[in-house]
Amino acid sequence: MGKAMEKNLVVIFVWVNLLLWGVSGRIEKIERKTAEKEVLAVGDPGMKRDGLRVAFEAWNFCNEVAYEAPGMGSPRAADCFDVANSTLIHKVSEADNRLGIGKTFKGLSVDALHNPDLYAVEKELYLGSLCEVSENSNPWQFWMVMLKNGNLDTRTSWCPENGKFVPPFTTTRFPCFGEGCMNQPTFNHQPTQLLADGTMRGWFNGTYDLDADIDQGLDNISFYEVVWEKKLGSGSWIFKHKLKTSKKYPWLMLYLRADATKGFSGGYHYETRGMLNTLPESNFKVRITLDVKKGGGPKSQFYLVDIGSCWKNNGKPCDGDVLTDVTRYSEMIINPDIEDWCSPTGLSNCPPYHITPDNKKIYRNDTANFPYAAYHYYCAPGNAKHLEEPVSTCDPYSNPQAQEIVQLLPHPIWGEYGYPTEKGQGWVGDPKTWVLDTGGLASRLYFYQDPNTPPAKRIWTSIDVGTEIFVSDKDEVAEWTLSDFDVILT
Ligand SMILES: *[C@@H]1O[C@H](CO)[C@@H](O)[C@H](O)[C@H]1NC(C)=O
Ligand SMILES: *[C@@H]1O[C@H](CO)[C@@H](O)[C@H](O)[C@H]1NC(C)=O
Ligand SMILES: *[C@@H]1O[C@H](CO)[C@@H](O)[C@H](O)[C@H]1NC(C)=O
Ligand SMILES: *[C@@H]1O[C@H](CO)[C@@H](O)[C@H](O)[C@H]1NC(C)=O
Repeated sequence: MGKAMEKNLVVIFVWVNLLLWGVSGRIEKIERKTAEKEVLAVGDPGMKRDGLRVAFEAWNFCNEVAYEAPGMGSPRAADCFDVANSTLIHKVSEADNRLGIGKTFKGLSVDALHNPDLYAVEKELYLGSLCEVSENSNPWQFWMVMLKNGNLDTRTSWCPENGKFVPPFTTTRFPCFGEGCMNQPTFNHQPTQLLADGTMRGWFNGTYDLDADIDQGLDNISFYEVVWEKKLGSGSWIFKHKLKTSKKYPWLMLYLRADATKGFSGGYHYETRGMLNTLPESNFKVRITLDVKKGGGPKSQFYLVDIGSCWKNNGKPCDGDVLTDVTRYSEMIINPDIEDWCSPTGLSNCPPYHITPDNKKIYRNDTANFPYAAYHYYCAPGNAKHLEEPVSTCDPYSNPQAQEIVQLLPHPIWGEYGYPTEKGQGWVGDPKTWVLDTGGLASRLYFYQDPNTPPAKRIWTSIDVGTEIFVSDKDEVAEWTLSDFDVILT
């Protein structure tokens, strides 16, 4: 629906341009600039709006809740306000943020009242209704801070295998310190305030170590924090992130997401709320300023954009059937310490082929030409029926359904799309504003599809930046700031 609207807009501007064509090249140019400016895909282009909309979600290993942390409510919260006469008018109360199973709210279904997974989904929709901005016909709700705990207790049966229920089993493949390892974190919130110097500031923070005494410092305990700041009336919001792993929680993820305002976002098998009120396909750029202060150690897979979507192996859009829906992710990892897993002797970690910007296909067995160092890891959906050997299939438990992941590394071949071309670019000590041709690059990545099926429409429902500290053997801290986030349709 949003897409159709956008098309009309473009058509109108093209028509205006045609009228002006020849009258004055200068006017034509200005008009075209205006047209480009109109075609924005996020509700708050460049994070410039004083009245912020930001939400929080915490996920267990398979993007669910399973059980709430005591006294914290369902792990969904929001900080949304408008500014009038230098006063912040908040839309979400702390009572709303603490809502958890057993407590009813407007629109809550009976099924969800005592079910932590369903409750969180409906709470997100409810918070979305409080935060929604509908200045035009494309309403939007919030930026999403996503926090995920990578512990998996396979004795619980909480996470399905490629969408299918699995009975309890034991394995040492996943981190888990024992019963309770899949818990949700504590959640503290400072609602955004206007300080005397004209800065607006608020934060979310907490820990997974429910029994820890925070006042004794953060030694040996996990921690997450997002602080947001902006000068009233100028500039961009700046989001300052901090993520710390601990022995009990060695695998943590913290992202800022621009998710779809409706439908399924990447990793969701349920209705979502977010920022992307026009869903981008192949023609879009992501603009972002990123300043990585601390990398998070050698296991920190920092994503200079991670994009997520969902389509079936036969190319059809997802419909919520977890047995045939497949989450698709592609992400550029900018930590220079991450190893190249894809190599001439590790073909199972590479996609079957690479496509060049001029649309030439290079097979991975073409050792003279395939850009092995441009790929970290490729894994295929576990429910795909016609895979090309050798292949690794993706972790079947860490998503509500099967998934496919294409992980990239900085390399000269990505230069064409504005991505880092060398290891270390954009990393600690190299803050940058990036304009990434994410759509162009994503349209040329390999994604699995059943033979003889019409190609999937690659409509991206999530665009995220942040890190995944992937099972660290010691406590690691990552710290970064992000601002100016924008998605521009080209
Ligand atoms: C804003 O402040 C002005 C001057 O103090 C006042 O006249 C006006 O009613 C205020 N508006 C609102 C919405 O409070
Ligand atoms: C959250 O941040 C506040 C303010 O910086 C701090 O006082 C508090 O200790 C933090 N919470 C945790 C769990 O560290
Ligand atoms: C953290 O763990 C280390 C190693 O087990 C220990 O030596 C240290 O005393 C612990 N720190 C705190 C504050 O508990
Ligand atoms: C390389 O892989 C392609 C696609 O799988 C295959 O058609 C081709 O025969 C292979 N070439 C060699 C030399 O093995």
